[in-house]
Amino acid sequence: MTRIWALLLGATAAMTFALVVLVAIPRVQLRTLEPDPQVPPYTATQLAGRRIYVSEGCVYCHSQQVRDPSFTYDTLRGWGRPSVPTDYSWDTPHLLGTMRTGPDLINVGSRLPDRSWHLLHLYQPRAVVPWSIMPAFPYLFEVKPAAADGDVVVVPPSPYALPGRVVVARPGALALVDYLLSLDRTKPPVATPAAGAAP
Ligand code: HEC
Repeated sequence: MTRIWALLLGATAAMTFALVVLVAIPRVQLRTLEPDPQVPPYTATQLAGRRIYVSEGCVYCHSQQVRDPSFTYDTLRGWGRPSVPTDYSWDTPHLLGTMRTGPDLINVGSRLPDRSWHLLHLYQPRAVVPWSIMPAFPYLFEVKPAAADGDVVVVPPSPYALPGRVVVARPGALALVDYLLSLDRTKPPVATPAAGAAP
């Protein structure tokens, strides 16, 4: 009987400790942070692209967080400066990710600023990176006999070319790429009231 009480007490203490250290203290530290003016809010199109990023499961293979050089090699991989809390002021929920089957994407807009590159890469990753294991997302595109006015055409190289037909980006693909291009947190963060408390 005594042991049950000890167990309950231990479990409650462990939960309370975790709650204070992982939830309460960070909340107090970050509460006063103002958004960094260099990180503008997402536009409606970028938010639509962000929803596709989530629904297509990009977050399962890509992180959006550059860890400190004292901890690991992220900065040496060319992914940008270490992330700070104000990089995520407009991210609800944040998409930090847990897996890195592919590269970190928090600064992909600065690293790869070309919309055509992204569209082709989404249509068929192996058309640009032959060894890629990233899945293709062909259903974000439409294959038509001819392009109409205003269509954004993707031209896959051989062996992915479709003779006599054109590949056109659907609005979802364009929004997703708009979101990817907005991912640029390379500028040194502007100091905000609680910046010193950043993890
Ligand atoms: C199964 C894992 C997986 C999924 C799911 C995935 N990717 Fe990737 N991604 C990769 C791998 C591996 C690479 C590296 C090879 C390449 O460039 O294709 C990559 C590369 C990239 C790159 C180029 C990054 C760079 O720095 O070179 C972008 C952009 C990208 N992915 C976006 C996306 C988007 C957007 C989605 C969702 C629609 C997505 N990925 C889904 C595995 C994945």
